[in-house]
Amino acid sequence: MFFLLDLLWMLIELSYSILSAVLQTFLRPRLKCIEGELCLITGAGGALGRLFALEFAKEGANLVLWDCNQAANEQTAELAREKGVKVYTHTVDLSRRQDIYEAAEKVRLDVGDVTILVNNAGVVAGRRLLECPDELLERTLLVNCHALFWWCSGVHSA
Ligand SMILES: NC(=O)c1ccc[n+]([C@@H]2O[C@H](COP(=O)([O-])OP(=O)(O)OC[C@H]3O[C@@H](n4cnc5c(N)ncnc54)[C@H](O)[C@@H]3O)[C@@H](O)[C@H]2O)c1
Repeated sequence: MFFLLDLLWMLIELSYSILSAVLQTFLRPRLKCIEGELCLITGAGGALGRLFALEFAKEGANLVLWDCNQAANEQTAELAREKGVKVYTHTVDLSRRQDIYEAAEKVRLDVGDVTILVNNAGVVAGRRLLECPDELLERTLLVNCHALFWWCSGVHSA
């Protein structure tokens, strides 16, 4: 009896999932308009950061680009400006709390309130835990995790 109920429940769930997947293919959610928003992208000099920057620029968002690699960050900025949006760059080492606070303060005072954050910068160790040098583990946590907290408190401090 329980087996039949289980089977019936599974068939209902399966039909629901298939139906909703088919509907979502045709009825896509309306995209939010981000024209004129201020979008801050970390790691903007890297592969994904650059792609994000160009996509947001294409949709009309003004950009604040952060990266510790100044040359790569500037290249992204140049490409994004070609799409007609305002782009501000900062060279920031996201493993340093003070750097983040200072850059966040600059953005707040000179540009305005950030409305979209793409917390993209990241360190990938790519090694087993015990093969990873202490410094690399620390940097991974600082950049991939702590930086987000310092950014939040930096932009919200009066
Ligand atoms: N590319 C992928 O297929 C993929 C897949 C899954 C997750 N990710 C994650 O997405 C993020 C971006 O990936 P990517 O491929 O563009 O990497 P990437 O290495 O090309 O770019 C990372 C960028 O972050 C910057 N960065 C690193 N440490 C920094 C620091 N301390 N301060 C400031 N900037 C710093 C680098 O200068 C670089 O420009 C990473 O977190 C990565 O782990 C990427």
